[in-house]
Amino acid sequence: MEKLRIMSVFGTRPEAIKMAPLVKELAGREEIESICCVTAQHREMLDSVLEVFDLKPDWDLDIMTPRQTLSTITSKCLTGMDEAIDTLKPDMILVHGDTSTTFAGALSAFYHQVPVGHVEAGLRTWDKYSPYPEEMNRKLVTAIADLYFCPTENNRENLRREAVTEGVFVTGNTVIDALKTTVRKDYVFAAEELNRLPYDTKKILLVTCHRRENYGQPMEDIMSALAEIARTHEDVELVYPVHLSPVVQECAKKHLADIPNVHLIPPLAADEMHNLMARCYLVLTDSGGLQEEAPALGKPVLVMRRETERPEAVTAGTVKLAGVKYDDIVGMAHELIADPAAYAAMAHAVNPYGDGCACRRIADAILWHFGRGGRPEDFHP
Ligand code: UD1
Ligand code: UDP
Repeated sequence: MEKLRIMSVFGTRPEAIKMAPLVKELAGREEIESICCVTAQHREMLDSVLEVFDLKPDWDLDIMTPRQTLSTITSKCLTGMDEAIDTLKPDMILVHGDTSTTFAGALSAFYHQVPVGHVEAGLRTWDKYSPYPEEMNRKLVTAIADLYFCPTENNRENLRREAVTEGVFVTGNTVIDALKTTVRKDYVFAAEELNRLPYDTKKILLVTCHRRENYGQPMEDIMSALAEIARTHEDVELVYPVHLSPVVQECAKKHLADIPNVHLIPPLAADEMHNLMARCYLVLTDSGGLQEEAPALGKPVLVMRRETERPEAVTAGTVKLAGVKYDDIVGMAHELIADPAAYAAMAHAVNPYGDGCACRRIADAILWHFGRGGRPEDFHP
């Protein structure tokens, strides 16, 4: 029997981290030829992930430009995907999550009448502009996809609300599969600055922030709140690997440069980031991926957004929605830094997002779809 040609399409850092273990799982199945196509919506941040996970793309659209707009990303991806699909002739295309690459990859697959599997399906905030443009990308990909790989039961329920019930699997999130390969107790950082951090004597606050809907006043407020937290707590070191977006770089430098206990550093390689998270005290972030990783590592998270599509860890008590207002972020961070009981109540490891076997379930589900195996069991936390 001929091998199934399964093409994974991704372009940004988080997609790459979450698709890397799946690309490898597919490559290990004898019924499948695993093909990897990157749009390079991110360039340096994508290449760093490819290096960490030792992935060599079969096709690279190389679309990134500085300060790119949503329309440019989508149109360049669509045009580039035509040739990739015509040449590589996949039997199925896998897209991940909710980026512009995700949407354009799915739309292009549809134009070529290639079935689509959506990894990390069913996340919703029900607010079209938050996160922006991700919430709409998710909905549009739901309309196009044939198979849906939901991290959690709650995600499946969201799809049911939109009358999507066929081809839906609860698999867990592949990010937990990735974490299992990167985090090690005896890990030594490549960045010497991270080896020298005073993990035993100070509280390490790990920060990331990049969302488009926070551009402007919300991001100004977030950054000045972070500056206040660092200035008023001598017992913390704030470590912030700054996203390469010029908008974020400018805002972070404006508020946080020259504060002695703030470390503004370049984006970290995924293994460095995961191991730093495993050793930090508290995470402050607007990232989606960090909201999933930190609970698995027993680290409390304050989410600097108005909403979250990841309510599972909020329910479990390890993640709190801090919002984007200065006073709220400063107040909630202060409580977790100064009140050991409040901290202890949040610092316990939970794994609502996966058991590290998501990729196996997804590969099994794809084979099931093509009549080459049984249906996988759902993930239950
Ligand atoms: C994108 C995704 C977002 C995801 C985020 C993960 C969209 C619309 N947004 O947002 O869902 O959460 O990635 O980080 O798909 N840049 C570089 N080098 C890089 C990466 C980015 O220089 O390796 C700069 C470029 O100037 C680029 C800008 O950052 O134009 C913004 O990148 P872009 O992918 O458009 O948006 P993100 O905010 O990264
Ligand atoms: N990450 C990383 N280096 C960094 C910051 C984040 O490797 O300097 C990882 C992080 O651990 C998670 C993913 O990137 O796996 C999240 O990506 P990002 O926050 O850019 O996007 P989002 O998850 O919000 O879409």
